[in-house]
Amino acid sequence: MPPTSVLFVASECAGFVKAGGLGDVVAALPAALRALGHDARIVIPRYDVIPTQGMTKHATPLGVPLGRGDAWSAVYETRLPGTDVPVYLLDHQALFGRGYLYDPPGAVAPDNLVRFAYLSRGALQLCKALRFVPDIFHVHDWPSALLPVYLNTVEARGPLARSASVLTIHNLAHQARFPASELPLTHLPWSELRPDSLEDHGAVSPLKGGLVHATKLTAVSPRYAAEIRTPAGGAGLDFLMRARGADLIGILNGIDDEVWNPATDPALPVPYDADSLAGKAACKRALQQEMGLAERPDVPLIGVVSRLSEQKGTDVVFAALSRILDLDVQMVIVGSGDLASEGYLLWRSHHGGDRFRAWVGFSEALSHRVEAGADLFLMPSRFEPCGLNQMYSQRYGTLPIVRATGGLDDTVDNYDAATGEGTGFKLWDLTVDAVVGTVRWAVETYRQRPEHFARMQRRAMQRHFGWGEAARRYADVYRWAVETRRGA
Ligand code: ADP
Ligand code: GLC
Repeated sequence: MPPTSVLFVASECAGFVKAGGLGDVVAALPAALRALGHDARIVIPRYDVIPTQGMTKHATPLGVPLGRGDAWSAVYETRLPGTDVPVYLLDHQALFGRGYLYDPPGAVAPDNLVRFAYLSRGALQLCKALRFVPDIFHVHDWPSALLPVYLNTVEARGPLARSASVLTIHNLAHQARFPASELPLTHLPWSELRPDSLEDHGAVSPLKGGLVHATKLTAVSPRYAAEIRTPAGGAGLDFLMRARGADLIGILNGIDDEVWNPATDPALPVPYDADSLAGKAACKRALQQEMGLAERPDVPLIGVVSRLSEQKGTDVVFAALSRILDLDVQMVIVGSGDLASEGYLLWRSHHGGDRFRAWVGFSEALSHRVEAGADLFLMPSRFEPCGLNQMYSQRYGTLPIVRATGGLDDTVDNYDAATGEGTGFKLWDLTVDAVVGTVRWAVETYRQRPEHFARMQRRAMQRHFGWGEAARRYADVYRWAVETRRGA
């Protein structure tokens, strides 16, 4: 089978704009596919936070049918930083020049159906303009889920009709729904507003449409692919996941081991690797200094880098905070998300004594310094489709404390005090007692069994979480999707 051509269409891509792990995947996977010889390219919106200096502007503007006419757009082209992956940015500032990705802080954008319909339809228009017919359109969560619907309807007889589509489910709980009256703005036919397509309880659900229309579906870990077929994990769509079960597989995310490499990470004051952890001690000292914590090498430092949302269990961490700090540890939380949590963190950081500091906002560089400077990383998610931070932590020799769910359970080996085996510490119940108890267990291991702790650190750092294997598995899914599409 010859190499595949695949166009990633997504709302985030690390290196340009990112709100979470989806953006990391949309950057790293195309790079890994390209290394295997496939023609992988990326389309994202040109949010105003992405500067266009150094990019090539296409000579002809692109018309995207939307609303009452065509949305005329500029197209910028560049490469994914550090790679030769082409990236196309669709520029329509009335839709994306707003200083936010999905919604303004504490509010809801009024026109997200149109904004993200534009992304899907725009990607198809771009392919036609470039005469680029990819074998696969690879779309991600609800923001690009309308693409397979367009492909099977308005494009069904067009030049892209032989292209297959793959929808990756990063998080089934994120389901944007819109009033049915807005459907005409998308130029999709009313006939798609039915329960076995876009319709969800009378509303338009792009995700549902994508799940029905995509040629194949993937989820970001095998465990999550199973969880979403159950009422407990299916976010109301488990029946659909079961109905499409034969076309759904789980592929565990990798991590970009060049971006997340403590030996070469430009965000760190001192590099280090598994053979010499002296640099890690220096990173800890620098982090304590940066955050205004006492520079104590002996005190266990616990890091959190997270979206502040129910999914991540940060509410339970907040409830457990005083008891955790009573264990004579230091803690640093870097997070952004719901406004009440942000407010609490800022307040607590000012009034919480000398053991706790929070940084509210989104900082890529600080997230790297926390991964490097902390001894332990806390991530007790309610559910976690895959999770990347627990893998970054292991690569940085920072032992993760995780709840045994989804991808967290798949990627962390629990400590065994009898043998010293393991790469982290697991809890099962999401309660304050379980969180405090597991943190205590990790802290006691740090203090009383330093030789076990050091061996776990080295073992964690030597684990392979790279994208190579996952990229090969995606290439197999692409071939499978093409066969299904063209055989049909
Ligand atoms: P999710 O995508 O559900 O948020 P993941 O663990 O898959 O969870 O990925 C989260 C990504 O977003 C990681 O790269 C993490 O470092 C990053 N991240 C989350 N919050 C912040 C923040 N406040 N500042 C910097 N990076 C963050
Ligand atoms: C989602 C999930 C997270 C996953 C990420 C990348 O944001 O919440 O678990 O790691 O997507 O696939």
